[in-house]
Amino acid sequence: MLSIPVKSLREGMVVGQSIYSEAGAAYLVKGKPLTNQYIKQMKKIGIPSISVSTVNPRFEVEIPEDVVQEKTRMDAIQKVHDVFEDLSGKKEMDTEGLTKIADRIVTDVFSRNSHLVQLTDIRLHDIYTFAHSVNVAVLSAMIGKFSELSDEDLKTLVMGGLLHDLGKIKVPSEILNKKGRLTALEYEEIKGHPMEGAHRISEFEWMLPKASILAAIAAQHHECIDGTGYPRGIKGDKMHRFAKMVAIADVYDALTSERPYKKAYTPSVAYGIMRIHKGHFEAELMEKFFDNVAIYPVGTILKTFYGYGIVTKCEFGHTRTPTIRIFADRRRNVLEHSFTIDLRHDSPNAIEKEISGSELLAFTHNFSFDPSKYLAK
Ligand SMILES: [Fe+2]
Repeated sequence: MLSIPVKSLREGMVVGQSIYSEAGAAYLVKGKPLTNQYIKQMKKIGIPSISVSTVNPRFEVEIPEDVVQEKTRMDAIQKVHDVFEDLSGKKEMDTEGLTKIADRIVTDVFSRNSHLVQLTDIRLHDIYTFAHSVNVAVLSAMIGKFSELSDEDLKTLVMGGLLHDLGKIKVPSEILNKKGRLTALEYEEIKGHPMEGAHRISEFEWMLPKASILAAIAAQHHECIDGTGYPRGIKGDKMHRFAKMVAIADVYDALTSERPYKKAYTPSVAYGIMRIHKGHFEAELMEKFFDNVAIYPVGTILKTFYGYGIVTKCEFGHTRTPTIRIFADRRRNVLEHSFTIDLRHDSPNAIEKEISGSELLAFTHNFSFDPSKYLAK
């Protein structure tokens, strides 16, 4: 998949990444060709860039499947939205509906075994918290699955992911979506959301199974193993194991999404940032997590020791060493005969950097060359 600024989109390009609007309805569905009307609309609402499966509508490229079904994701976003809304309006929490959604996420994560986590969606600002909660639930489930949690524990973990940011209902959206730097006071307000969430969850103790664990996840999801987190600055030995899992999923999803105050980082950049801050996370869980995430998703353009290439395969357990089709030499001359290298066997350290943004456009436009043709079915 190639991330293309909206202003460079052309009719016929195929959407590689769904966009969710209000309450989880898909605004753009992946796999569908773009129309001029959609492009105009995206400019209007200010979406900066989207992923397309190919810039050349002639190539039919396989789009990687998500770890959960589109329908599950959409229903889950809707449900989290409703629960937040109900609680803001002092209504009861639909715990039954939420439990059902958690079950469906767990079922999907198990039945779609071979799928790696790929960047799958972008969210409009007004639904960020709901889509983020669903992503955190799904990503946590991946960690839990490979930590061999029981079915029941997995469901609790997923519920914890869905509700981890519940305390944000008390934080004004102007603060949550603020573009500039937060004032000390605003930051204090944000820092209140973990305990607020835990408190709200405890109020439903009588109808929420394992409410004490769910409350611990909400209370501790911003704590760090080395004690540098908030609100209490507790260390790893005092954190619930599920909170450690949710913390990893939470940071990864925040780094890879677009926010009013920051651009979305690519998975490999997010991986690099999380490794720099590895003291925040439990090492073993983080390794498990990145075994499941396509660090270099299919379609990523890389500068390597061999020249420039496009990732054609990224496999479970080998996410750091993808298969790459080399199409240009190190001076950017397009090769007459491209060739494939499998970094698992060739040189695992051959990747120098990822090409994205304007540099990527230089490849696809200035060279009038579309590397995604190597991904064509
Ligand atoms: Fe949070």
